[in-house]
Amino acid sequence: MWGGRFASGPAAIMEEINASIGFDKKLYEQDIAGSIAHANMLAECDIITGEDRDKIVHGLNTILLEIESGRFEFSRALEDIHMNIEARLRALIGDAAGRLHTARSRNDQVAVDFRLWVKAELQKTASLLEKLIEALLTRATAHSGTVMPGFTHLQTAQPVTFGHHCMAYVEMFGRDLSRVDDALERLNENPLGAAALAGTGFPIDRSMTSEALGFREPTRNSIDTVSDRDFALEFLSTASICATHLSRMAEEIVIWSTPQFGFVTLSDSFSTGSSIMPQKKNPDAAELVRAKVARINGSLIALLTVMKGLPLAYSKDMQEDKEQVFDAAESLELALAAMTGMVADMDINEAAMRKAAGSGYSIATDLADWCVRALNMPFRDAHHVTGKAVALAAEKKITLEKLSLEELQAINPAITDDVFSVLSVKKSVASRTSFGGTAPVQVKKQIRFWQKRLAKRA
Ligand code: ARG
Repeated sequence: MWGGRFASGPAAIMEEINASIGFDKKLYEQDIAGSIAHANMLAECDIITGEDRDKIVHGLNTILLEIESGRFEFSRALEDIHMNIEARLRALIGDAAGRLHTARSRNDQVAVDFRLWVKAELQKTASLLEKLIEALLTRATAHSGTVMPGFTHLQTAQPVTFGHHCMAYVEMFGRDLSRVDDALERLNENPLGAAALAGTGFPIDRSMTSEALGFREPTRNSIDTVSDRDFALEFLSTASICATHLSRMAEEIVIWSTPQFGFVTLSDSFSTGSSIMPQKKNPDAAELVRAKVARINGSLIALLTVMKGLPLAYSKDMQEDKEQVFDAAESLELALAAMTGMVADMDINEAAMRKAAGSGYSIATDLADWCVRALNMPFRDAHHVTGKAVALAAEKKITLEKLSLEELQAINPAITDDVFSVLSVKKSVASRTSFGGTAPVQVKKQIRFWQKRLAKRA
């Protein structure tokens, strides 16, 4: 392509380090779409003839079919997807192919291709997140009254409902969804026409290509345009945060599905057996979802490190952006789909959750709150009284509500029979009606909020 300046070809090792076709062939669709939009615009602006434009567009469509049917021969000597397609175009239509690269550089070409790819991937991510949220909403709706222990420090804290717990993840994945929306909003500018870095002297129309490619408007600074990979970094950081959420949920599923917890039973379709221990059902899908975050975080750090300290404008370092994004995208898609499958399929063992909800003195706070309300005790004193009651019950190896009124009055004589009206897991949960609290009425309210929000997106 630059034979005019060069007398000899690259060393073998140069070709190997330089070539990106092995991975950027993934961009063929975007590359062809970008070139068709560019050729149409060049013709509209009288920079090339209508006749050449027709040949170019027809040739590019032929190449698209060739690639999609597996007949296209990719060549490493041609370095990347842009030159592979352009060389094939020349073979197909002859000299007219040479006019396509007027008022364009591979620098704005790769920027437009990659933006289009990341944009489509963000849209895919959004729809996968919506599916996961829907699966969680279905579970939350059925279990808005199913009690389970709520944990802090993974120690039994206070009773909550499984529906409420599911809705915590809905909030997390809902924030991920809004990050995807934000990233899409910022990404939605067209790099084409920035050319190498300085723009072009040809009378191009950047709004025309923006509209053809589905971008809101052209980018405003040609130097920034060819050196910017924020859209890839935003995809990766959004993916990292989302994968972090997935890994936390996956970890809970691993814990919940142990015989010791027994809160959930994974379906056969999302677990594996052991080749030696016939009794085992392993949560492999959850474990792998938990692990995928490592690759995705790695990709984010890798690209941040590539971009750090790069002078303006384009540098070949930036070619390293694609593999990180492709790998992270594949991992995130898999993890989201596997989590959605697990959430939809697993059995919820209400009895085990209920039993665990009542153990570990989870309703101790309710006793303390009762002392505050009924006896007008300062909370710190109520905390002390309750601590004594818990110690006594623990010594007797019974639950709090099994203590007799006499035993409670021995700790504080003002306590009355009325205290037993709050000492149950169900009542504890039902009493937490503050906005966002665990009471079923509140949980149902939040479920409706998210159902409406999802319906609005559809
Ligand atoms: N393969 C290159 C990349 O991915 C395309 C842009 C090359 N531009 C250049 N001036 N060498 O970044």
